[in-house]
Amino acid sequence: MEHFAMAITAFGGPQVLQHQSITPRAPQAGQIAVKVAACGVNPIDWKTRAGLGWAAKANAENLPWVPGYDVSGYVAALGEGVDDFAVGDPVVGLVGFATQGGGYASYVVVDAVSFVALDPSLDLPTAAGLPIPALTASQAISRLDFSVTPHCVVLGAGGAAGSLAVQWALRQGASHVTALVRHREQYVDDPRLDAESVTIVSLDDWQAPDYALCAIDAIGGVVAQAWVKTLAPGSRVVTLPTVTAEAVAEANRKVDTQGMLMQADREALREWVQHWAQGSIAVSAPQRRLLAEAASAHADIESGALRGKVVLLPQEG
Ligand SMILES: NC(=O)c1ccc[n+]([C@@H]2O[C@H](COP(=O)([O-])OP(=O)(O)OC[C@H]3O[C@@H](n4cnc5c(N)ncnc54)[C@H](OP(=O)(O)O)[C@@H]3O)[C@@H](O)[C@H]2O)c1
Repeated sequence: MEHFAMAITAFGGPQVLQHQSITPRAPQAGQIAVKVAACGVNPIDWKTRAGLGWAAKANAENLPWVPGYDVSGYVAALGEGVDDFAVGDPVVGLVGFATQGGGYASYVVVDAVSFVALDPSLDLPTAAGLPIPALTASQAISRLDFSVTPHCVVLGAGGAAGSLAVQWALRQGASHVTALVRHREQYVDDPRLDAESVTIVSLDDWQAPDYALCAIDAIGGVVAQAWVKTLAPGSRVVTLPTVTAEAVAEANRKVDTQGMLMQADREALREWVQHWAQGSIAVSAPQRRLLAEAASAHADIESGALRGKVVLLPQEG
């Protein structure tokens, strides 16, 4: 099979994503080669492709650039000193996080410490949707203190990070989670939000209580700026979109709003994967598109025609 990546040589619209042949190289000490089953698409991919945000700034002098961070696949070769994987193991992990990327490819060579083994019962394309949203969700929740403010609200609870934040908040001791979504009816049967202590509310029906809340904002922008104004003084918000974090904080100075930047964390990823394998967290099956059609996938995501998590597959599968 010819190995390939989808790279950009200039920032711009989806069409800048172009096919690039790659020659597989052998892993060096501490690395593994992975035959990619799927790469998750995250908002950072298309924002960076368009030239927006810190990852674009970091790569401006570094083009061509291959987007993609969340990869699942099979170990194809082991570098010297790697003894926690065997060739053929199913794995998931982060490629080149935070600025290097490289996941939109059929074959990657990565640091073994960025990857974890997957239970063979787990679906590889679904696994590719997990690393960034899961680590973001748990790291955002860790900034909240449910012993002081036990009611948690997740704005954008139907999204990849938001739906996992809802589940993690309950694990971490939130007494109740309000899952704020665009259209409630789209989520009433969603297993990711299906818990006794979760109330699903449409954003249009949101009425803030008069007491302080803990909250995750997974939408940002003008929506979050308007919403944060409704919160009682003393509330604490972790806002995920970095581009608008300052504007959301400015919108209500009586609320403690902080931005964050997800960090790679192998042990935390392993924990998420174990919970998923045990059935104690729900991860929904993503939409699958061919990697070679990454440009049309980006276009459809940005236009709103393609909703929910999307993963790119180098081969039909
Ligand atoms: N700081 C960090 O380290 C970090 C890490 C990861 C992600 N992020 C950021 O966090 C955000 C969420 O990421 P994600 O992967 O969860 O994205 P996602 O899966 O696309 O989820 C975004 C959610 O926001 C909702 N939404 C968007 N615009 C809306 C609007 N105008 N009104 C109501 N709902 C709206 C979407 O609702 P629908 O489902 O109805 O479309 C979707 O559920 C992104 O901005 C991403 O860049 C930051």
